[in-house]
Amino acid sequence: MKVVHSIEDLRDQLRGQLRVAFVATMGNLHAAHLSLMRLARQHGDPVVASIFVNRLQFAPNEDFDQYPRTLAQDIEKLEAERDVYVLFAPDESVLYPEPQNFRVQPGNTLGGILEGEFRPDFFMGVCTVVLKLFSCVQPTVAVFGKKDYQQLMVVRAMCRQFQLPVEIIAHETVRDDDGLALSSRNRYLTPEERAEAPRLYALLQRVREQLAAVPDERVRVEAEALQHLRERGWAPDYLSVRRQRDLLEPTADELHAGEPLVVLAAARLGHTRLIDNLEFQI
Ligand code: PAF
Repeated sequence: MKVVHSIEDLRDQLRGQLRVAFVATMGNLHAAHLSLMRLARQHGDPVVASIFVNRLQFAPNEDFDQYPRTLAQDIEKLEAERDVYVLFAPDESVLYPEPQNFRVQPGNTLGGILEGEFRPDFFMGVCTVVLKLFSCVQPTVAVFGKKDYQQLMVVRAMCRQFQLPVEIIAHETVRDDDGLALSSRNRYLTPEERAEAPRLYALLQRVREQLAAVPDERVRVEAEALQHLRERGWAPDYLSVRRQRDLLEPTADELHAGEPLVVLAAARLGHTRLIDNLEFQI
């Protein structure tokens, strides 16, 4: 695997390559990232991965400074898996050599709800860096995980609206045996919090079961699930059943007609904010 830090070296490595598959990450790689790389390998050749902790998507009160930076270990993991041909690991001075005044605003319909409501500039930061990374790597396909469900949809919408010639491929969420979705932020959890954390996914499954039993009581089911989290010491931002196609609330008729749904949640456990989701249909 070649590790490159500059855009010039990246372009040198990729000259003439027409089927590049790309995985963007913020590093601190775990099994879910490695699985994204494997899927990328099935959809293109060569695979390019990036590691860049993108300041633009963190609010001032968020964990930009603490975000784990583990480049040496990340390189070892990628070398061992052998799926990635080039790792692009730019410094901030490479991706943001001057103040980033041109920014991609995803708009409020998709970008202002759910995560966008609680992290107002998050999707602007994600879209801006993903567009920059796409223009550096020029991939044919790019793989994003479904754990960041709304991010995946926002990136897809950006590609569609800007006519970017990049096919976005979704990777299923990778979970620990107890159901907790893998995330770099899990390492912030204390042992007690780690034991509690799988409750979030268990609750999403319970919401799915309850909604199948009483589809007309979506609002009550959501409210009870939020209350349950609060009673267990969580501070939830949202837990909401939405339509898969646009993340808007389903009507009762749509619920009955088998509309593809996803229940999404974000909640803080101690100092750690966890997100998760579950797709389903009733
Ligand atoms: O999902 C992430 O790790 C980040 O949001 C991404 C897509 C790498 C952009 O910084």
